[in-house]
Amino acid sequence: MKGIGMADWRVGAAVAVAAVAAVVAACGGNPEGTATTFTGADGAALYAQACASCHGADLRGTDQGPPFLDAIYRPGHHADAAFFLAAKAGARAHHWNFGNMPPVEGLTDAQIEAIVAFVREEQRAVGIE
Ligand code: HEC
Repeated sequence: MKGIGMADWRVGAAVAVAAVAAVVAACGGNPEGTATTFTGADGAALYAQACASCHGADLRGTDQGPPFLDAIYRPGHHADAAFFLAAKAGARAHHWNFGNMPPVEGLTDAQIEAIVAFVREEQRAVGIE
């Protein structure tokens, strides 16, 4: 009897480990293939490569991520540092229900700076300052 109980426990543990791995793959994974090397220094082009799949080509969001043309992302509420942090470390879901933002690997500081400049320009164009 003792042997059977032990085997049951092992099966249970294996299932639990597989479930955790599946959750990690689904949530922390990189379905858009963003762990790549980005080239160029143009903020608009880099945004299109690295951020648009979730935040929208027009910065108005997608079903994967929130719009940047929203007062919540004005510089006074999400300073430029928040963009560096989000790109480097990802962002925990807290303002919306899209889930967590995974880190976008492979961007240099200069490239993130260019992306932020592009986002700020687009925000100003619609009166978000
Ligand atoms: C895989 C989808 C995805 C990609 C790609 C992505 N984001 Fe996000 N991002 C999200 C989600 C989802 C949130 C919302 C988190 C929340 O609920 O507040 C978010 C939030 C943010 C925030 C707000 C963080 C905060 O402190 O509240 C910033 C800034 C941001 N993203 C910048 C970027 C930049 C810059 C890029 C491109 C380099 C990028 N994101 C690419 C999904 C993504």
